[in-house]
Amino acid sequence: MSQFAELKYGDKIYQLPVLVGSENEVALDISKLRDDTGLITLDIGYKNTGATKSAITFIDGETGILRYRGYPIEQLAEHSNFMEVSYLLIYGELPTESQLEAFTNSITRRTLVHENIKKFLDAYPSDVHPMGVLLAVVSSLSSFYPNSLNPNRKPEEVDRTIHRLIAKTATIAAWTYKKSMGHPYMYPNNKLDYVSNFLNMMFGMRTEDYQTDPVVVDALNKLLILHADHEQNCSASTVRIVGSSKANIYSAVASGIAALWGPLHGGANQEVIEMLELIKADGGNTKKYIEKAKDKNDNFRLMGFGHRVYKNFDPRAKIIKTACDSVLNKLGIHDEVLDIAKELEEAALNDPYFIERKLYPNVDFYSGIIYRAIGIPTNMFTVMFALGRLPGWIAQWKEMRESNEPIGRPRQLYVGEPLRDYVSIAKR
Ligand code: ACO
Repeated sequence: MSQFAELKYGDKIYQLPVLVGSENEVALDISKLRDDTGLITLDIGYKNTGATKSAITFIDGETGILRYRGYPIEQLAEHSNFMEVSYLLIYGELPTESQLEAFTNSITRRTLVHENIKKFLDAYPSDVHPMGVLLAVVSSLSSFYPNSLNPNRKPEEVDRTIHRLIAKTATIAAWTYKKSMGHPYMYPNNKLDYVSNFLNMMFGMRTEDYQTDPVVVDALNKLLILHADHEQNCSASTVRIVGSSKANIYSAVASGIAALWGPLHGGANQEVIEMLELIKADGGNTKKYIEKAKDKNDNFRLMGFGHRVYKNFDPRAKIIKTACDSVLNKLGIHDEVLDIAKELEEAALNDPYFIERKLYPNVDFYSGIIYRAIGIPTNMFTVMFALGRLPGWIAQWKEMRESNEPIGRPRQLYVGEPLRDYVSIAKR
């Protein structure tokens, strides 16, 4: 049954279709609004605007639900691994054994990067932020694979580019770390699975000697899965809008990396640890920082708290909190910063300011603690997030292209000066 909402504007009544999604979410279809009424909608920050129809990820922020292609995040984090989840996000279904093998092999075979990329990395100062390097190097992959510039490629060629992107981003990410440490770059080892290979490129000095810890591999798989997609967030929307101009996928994904870098998005995981370190250096007085976060005249925010969509709890935070405890226990790490995190969490969860505004710890509150425990430096945290989010960006880009979405082009409400005449500089 079709549903409509009525809009009364001037002396006319307009009927706007109401669309219902597969989880009974409802949307007002305003695609003909401007043509019919001359009006545009104004929704700064897109808090109420659906930019697309998507079949990739479902989130219910009120009840804390996150599903990829219908599968609950809890089940995927418990039973799957990052390669399988990547396949699921990109191709829409869980793979059969042979599909997963072909996908994994295709990625494994492509993990080497062009030797000239090393020259590119060498040119950066040693204290460069690895996100800046990742962003630039991923974007420049289009120069090494110029056929990616053709927007009308065959599906198998697009697949090859997608596999190449997943494979090489892991190598580039690990090499940005090696660059920052001044260590020699570790080449990929095709005998290892994706996560072990990444850890080996990060921490292995000689492939034969380095042994990955299964607890660490498991925790990293979970972290990558939890970060793999989150529907139309800032970076995914950026990837879709850049891709909508038919820019190549490397550039579209690089723009997603740029969006993710910001402290209100993926950069929050770095900010969380920096905030906890600051509190520790200041004597560990968590109450003082809770008060600062509540003070409207103070710019301080509790990093890792609050979420645009989750207004009850972040289901990813729940899973990662458990993984965090088991990694720290297994590795026998006692971290003072974690004690501060726990104190802060408890104080905030019992404070009326945070309760009224529905501010809960988000995934980034705990992910940094795990990264830190497994030896990943703070400025690499957002790179780790980007590595996890990659299949999500690719799935969003692919869906947008396959649905033939038009170029993204929002409107605006102009509030500047009305028409005025140019005045020569001598008369101003
Ligand atoms: N600390 C203190 N107060 C906060 C916080 C916080 N972390 N987050 C929100 N608030 C307050 C705001 O001041 C506002 O209060 P008011 O109603 O009295 O003005 C109210 O809560 C609503 O906040 P908004 O900023 O309007 O919420 P929005 O949905 O726009 O922002 C965001 C969400 C950006 C995540 C915000 O909560 C925030 O800045 N959090 C800290 C950064 C962070 O952890 N980001 C990671 C997000 S998860 C991810 O990207 C994977």
